[in-house]
Amino acid sequence: MSLIDKYGRVHRDLRVSLTDRCSLRCTYCMPFNFDKWLPSETLLTAPEIVKVIEIAVSQGIKEVRLTGGEPLLRPDIVEIVSRINALENVPELSMTTNGVALAKVANELAKAGLKRINISLDTLDWERFKRLTFRDRYDDVIEGIAAARAAGLAPIKINTVLMRDINGDEALPLLKWALKESLNLRFIEQMPLDAGDAWTRSNLITADEIYNQISSEFELTPVAERGSSPAEEFYINGGPATVGIIGSVTRSFCANCDRLRLTSDGQLRNCLFSNEETDLRSILRNRNLTEREKLEDIVKAFGLSVKAKLPGHGINNPDFVKPVRPMSAIGG
Ligand code: 5AD
Ligand code: SF4
Repeated sequence: MSLIDKYGRVHRDLRVSLTDRCSLRCTYCMPFNFDKWLPSETLLTAPEIVKVIEIAVSQGIKEVRLTGGEPLLRPDIVEIVSRINALENVPELSMTTNGVALAKVANELAKAGLKRINISLDTLDWERFKRLTFRDRYDDVIEGIAAARAAGLAPIKINTVLMRDINGDEALPLLKWALKESLNLRFIEQMPLDAGDAWTRSNLITADEIYNQISSEFELTPVAERGSSPAEEFYINGGPATVGIIGSVTRSFCANCDRLRLTSDGQLRNCLFSNEETDLRSILRNRNLTEREKLEDIVKAFGLSVKAKLPGHGINNPDFVKPVRPMSAIGG
């Protein structure tokens, strides 16, 4: 089975948001006083999540990324990871976290079968961190990174969003730090996904600008194979170390997109930017359906969602409308 859309894109990657809550308030994601949380009874349970993943894998999904909000806020996070690893066909499993709570659970996660991890960090200055996230948790993230390394999670990727007048001058310091620490750094162009409507094109630090900043001190050569990865990877001074630049806005990779998303309240989305969702929760919780019927309906829902996928996000169109949900509720 495979999930092929109208444009020939084969979907192999499922991003699963485990909660819309977060321990930080990154300005590009959530307003600091955000309070429109999903009602907790709508969040999928661990068995429901794992059931959807099992069905997705039977339909051709090969890679599952657990995300949020902040996935480590789920008290059952280790259980979810180990249940996924107990499936007959285990997908490649990774997680995107803000790292705040990682120091405590990195070891358990690795034991439960997590291999790879992406940690978000936008600055090396604790005061800036506080300004950017509205929380004083810089040291926790640094400890979390150390714990991930000690637990053997590899590779460790660091996701960074640069913003003018906030951390726009940190491309080189962050890269030098990542090289010293053997971390795989990727810069992500800021997308208009914040619940606070703060995004402006004029404030966007573009992929070209990041490339130019880095090239002022390092020689960058493109790594040939990009595949469906959103990051353009470059060898630094001939390699083997690399840096990634994700030009979500100015160098959109929609044409090669292989991703689907499951929100924490059980809605299947075919794009970060789509405004339509397919409701899997109501299938999972429909008492009038047998397990077999649920399975068939969820398989159908995957097929329909993929068929309805648009060719691209349209951020650059004048009539672009940003999704109703903020990033924290969709899942990175
Ligand atoms: N634009 C780009 N990246 C974003 N992230 C969250 N919101 C945005 C945005 N508006 C990133 C975070 C994290 C990942 C889940 O998505 O930095 O690394
Ligand atoms: Fe939390 Fe991630 Fe959003 Fe920051 S970007 S507020 S860490 S979900």
